[in-house]
Amino acid sequence: MDQQQINDKANELLSQMTLPEKVAQIMQLSYAHISEEDKLMWMDRGIGSVLHVMGSDAQRFQDMTMGTRLKIPLIFGIDCVRGHAMNPAATVFPCGLGMATSFNAEMVEKACEIAAREVTEDALHMVFSPVLCLGRDTRWGRVDETFGEDPYLSGELAAAMVRGYQGDGEMREDTGVIACPKHYLAHGESTGGRDSYDVPITNRKVLEFFAPPFKKVIDAGCKSIMTAYHTIDGIPCTANKWVLKDLLRDIMGFEGFVITDWDNTGRLMWQQFYSPDMRHAAKTAIEAGNDMIMSTPGFYEAAISMVESGELDEALIDESVLRILRVKLEMDLFGERRSAFHDIKNSVLACEEHLQLNEEFTKQTVVMLENKNNTLPLSRDLKKIAVVGPNAHNISSQYGDWTFYTHPLPDFTKVPESVNISIWDGIKGIAEENGIDAILSEWNVPKHETRHTHNPNAHPMDIQSIHRTNEALYDENTVIDSLCFDKMLRDCEGADVVVAVIGDDPTLNGEERDRGNLDLPYAQQKMLKVLKEAGHKLIVAGVTGKPLTVRWAKENADAMLWTFCPGMFGGSAVAGVLFGDVNPSARLPISFPQHVGQVPVYYNQIPGWHGGKYIDLPKEPLYTFGYGLSYSEFEFSNLRLPEQVNADSKDDICINVDVTNRSDVDGVSVVQLYFRDMVSSISTPVKQFKGFKRIFLKAGETKTMEMMLPIGELAFIDHDLKPVLEKGTFRIFIGDGQYLEKDFQLV
Ligand code: BGC
Repeated sequence: MDQQQINDKANELLSQMTLPEKVAQIMQLSYAHISEEDKLMWMDRGIGSVLHVMGSDAQRFQDMTMGTRLKIPLIFGIDCVRGHAMNPAATVFPCGLGMATSFNAEMVEKACEIAAREVTEDALHMVFSPVLCLGRDTRWGRVDETFGEDPYLSGELAAAMVRGYQGDGEMREDTGVIACPKHYLAHGESTGGRDSYDVPITNRKVLEFFAPPFKKVIDAGCKSIMTAYHTIDGIPCTANKWVLKDLLRDIMGFEGFVITDWDNTGRLMWQQFYSPDMRHAAKTAIEAGNDMIMSTPGFYEAAISMVESGELDEALIDESVLRILRVKLEMDLFGERRSAFHDIKNSVLACEEHLQLNEEFTKQTVVMLENKNNTLPLSRDLKKIAVVGPNAHNISSQYGDWTFYTHPLPDFTKVPESVNISIWDGIKGIAEENGIDAILSEWNVPKHETRHTHNPNAHPMDIQSIHRTNEALYDENTVIDSLCFDKMLRDCEGADVVVAVIGDDPTLNGEERDRGNLDLPYAQQKMLKVLKEAGHKLIVAGVTGKPLTVRWAKENADAMLWTFCPGMFGGSAVAGVLFGDVNPSARLPISFPQHVGQVPVYYNQIPGWHGGKYIDLPKEPLYTFGYGLSYSEFEFSNLRLPEQVNADSKDDICINVDVTNRSDVDGVSVVQLYFRDMVSSISTPVKQFKGFKRIFLKAGETKTMEMMLPIGELAFIDHDLKPVLEKGTFRIFIGDGQYLEKDFQLV
C-alpha cells in the first residue's frame, strides 16, 4: 500500500469506529497484570495493543481480534533492550552500555535486526528500545540501559538500533518491528540520581544535550517514541506540550505515535499530584500529545466521559487513532504476512547465525582498564588458575535487568534455555584445552544473610527490602563467615594467577534500584584485600550494570577488565581477552567516578572557575569516557585539517590523521574525534565528542584516517532556543587515549 492508500484505509476504519472503540484502540495493557476475565473484556472493547505477551498467548489474542466488530489487529509490545531477553530461549546481547563500549554502530544494527527477527517469530511487533537517556548520574539504577554519557554516541548507536529493528528507511517486510526510543526526554537527569524525580534543567539544556539523540532516531524513521516518567522543571513529561508537540513534532519532525510509559497517565494523579482525578489526567495526557496510553485501565471510562461532557475534543482522540492505525497498516498487520496469522516456529531464536554474531559482538565489549607489567595476556603455560568472586559463575548478573529473570515478573528460579557462558565457563574452557588446572572457588558468602539482614526471607527483588539491605552491604559488621575466605585461600593455593570476578547483579542495578553508594559491597572488597595480602597475582574482572568506585582495585590489581552486563557470551569474551585470543578493542562510553561524591563526572562538562576539584578527591575521574587499553600500541601523527573554514559552507570539515600500530600485535584502534569551541557567548563543554571509527591495523601498519565533521555540529543553542554558529577559534582533538590537537578558524 502506498501512503495515500494507507491514509484512506485508516480514515475509513476511523469513520466506522464508535467513541469507546476509538478510546480502546489507543490503549495498551499488560498481559501479566490483567485477569483472564478482564483480558476477554478488553478484547471485546477493541483494545489496540498489549504488552509483555509472546508466542502462543499473543497468537491466541491476535486470533481473537477476528471475532471483534472491526477486526483491527493488535500491536504487541515487548521490552527488548538487550535482544529478546524476556524469552529464556532467545539471544541475549550485552546491555546498551555494554553494546556502546564497542563504538560499533554496524554491530549494534545487526544485533537489533536479529532481535527483530526473534521477536517477530514470537508474534510481536514493537520493541521498547533504544534507550536514549544519558547515563550521567551513575547513581541512577538504569544506567545499564543507556549508551553512556555522551549525546553524540547515544544518537549514533540509537539510530543504528532503529535501522536494525525497523529497516533502513522503509519498514522491513516480515521482520521489521516498531522501534520505540525512550524515555522522552532527559530521563536519567533526575535530582540525586533518584529514578524519575524532577529533572532540574532548562529548555536550552534540553535542546543542547538531550534532544539531539532523539532527532537522530526521528531522522532514522522511528515509528514511535515513549514519554518519560519524570517532571522537567516541575512539568510532567506526560503533560508537557512543548516537549511532546512543539519540540517533538514541529521542531524535530516526528510523525509516528507517542506512547506513555507505564501508567504515566495515572501517575499524573497519584504520584505527581498534577491531576486531581483520572478525568483530568486523561484529558491532560491527550491534549499534551500522547497517542497510546500504557497500563492505565481507568483511562477508558475517564476519556469517554470527558469527550461526552464536551471537555475533551474527540478530534484529538481521532488523531491518535489515525497515527496508530497508519502504523498498523504500514506494517501490514491486516495482511497475511504478519504475525496475526503467523506460524510460530521459534526456529530463529538463538539460532547458530544469531549466536555467532552475538559472540563476535560481545568480544568487542570487554574493556581492559589496567594491565600492569603486561600481566595480560596470560600464558598458556600456566600451571593453575583460580577463579573466585560472586560473578564468576552468575548468569543473572551477566544478563541484568529487563531479562526473563526480572520481567514481566521477577523470577530468579528461571533458567536460560540457550547457550550461556559464565566467566568461569569461559576460563575453564581455555584452561582445559591447554592442560591448565582451573578451579572455581564457589562464592559462599551467604547472599541473603549479607543482604537481607533485617528480612532474611525477603524476595531478592523486594525493593523495600533491598533498601534496608544496602545498609548491610557496606556494613563492616555484616556477618561474613571468615571460613568463606579461608576456603577461598585454600582453593587458590599454588595458583599462578587469581581472577576475581566482582560486580553487581539485578538486585543492585536496574529500574527502581538506584544506589547512594557505588562502592563494592563490603564482602567483595574484603575478598580482594584478602587475596592481595596472600600475595596472589590478582586480575579483577568487573561484571556490572554501571561504573563502580573501584579505586582500590585500580591501584592494587595487576590487571583489570570490565564488562557491562555482557549477556550469554560474557564468559567466552572475557576469557578470550585474558588469554589473548581477543585483543581488547572496547572503550568506555561512560566515566568512572573516584568516589560517589564526585558524581557527575561526565567528560563534557561546562568549565568551572576552580577546575572541578574537591579538597578531598583528585580532580580527574577514575577512568574517563573513551578510555580503554589494547594489546597493541597506537600512535597518531600528521593531523591535517583546514586552517580556515567558511561558516556558510555546506561541506563537512575534512580531518586526516595517520595511525600506526607500533606493536607486534594486530589490533583495533577506536579513533575518536572531539572539538572545543574556544570562546563562545554561552559557555560550552570543554570537549565534545563528534565522531568515531574502529580501525584494524596489522602489527607495524600505518593507515590514514579521514573523519568528516559537519559544520552544523559546531553550533550551540542560545537563550532564544535557536542553534547558533559563532565564528572564531575551534580546537580539534583526535586520537585514542592520547590525542593530537590543532586549531582552525571558523570565518
Ligand atoms: C519502563 C519502560 C518500559 C515499560 C514497559 C516502564 O516501567 O520505564 O522502560 O518500557 O515499563 O515495561
